Amino acid sequence: MSAVSDPSRTVLLLNGPNLNLLGTRDPAQYGTTTLEEVERRVASLGRELGVEVVCAQSNSEGALVDRIHEARGWAGVVLNPGAYAHYGIALRDAIDAVEAPVVEVHISNVYAREEFRHTSVTAPVAAGYVAGCGVFGYELALRAVLRRGAERREAAGGAQAG
Ligand code: DQA
Repeated sequence: MSAVSDPSRTVLLLNGPNLNLLGTRDPAQYGTTTLEEVERRVASLGRELGVEVVCAQSNSEGALVDRIHEARGWAGVVLNPGAYAHYGIALRDAIDAVEAPVVEVHISNVYAREEFRHTSVTAPVAAGYVAGCGVFGYELALRAVLRRGAERREAAGGAQAG
């Protein structure tokens, strides 16, 4: 990934497997908004809130791990891990390894679905968790990432909360 201009004011919006199909994939669970539109909305909210949003999607766990490593020192990560949430230990360890706050998003209410979706191995190391709010959850998660970052800086005696 090319260097970002100000890592401390940059948020990674990262989507996992099958989320490239948003808009046409199982609209009863995920709605009809495309990933491109989600990225546009989150980037636009980011501009309002004074951060740049870098967007990425991958169907591979290793590529998601690489992206999270690249976001070390950034303002945070909004992550929909897709099905890797339920068993992706490498992804979990990557979240745990970076100091940037990672907020996990699920578009659907995973707790109202199959039992295997009720477990998240990534949630315990995430700075927050949003599920069942549709694609609006990504915007909530961006706000939460920035809030968590501000809280951490405050706790460390650094800059004022944003
Ligand atoms: C999802 C929920 C996961 O269980 C599923 O595998 C997905 C999408 C969601 O956004 O609701 O791919 O993360």
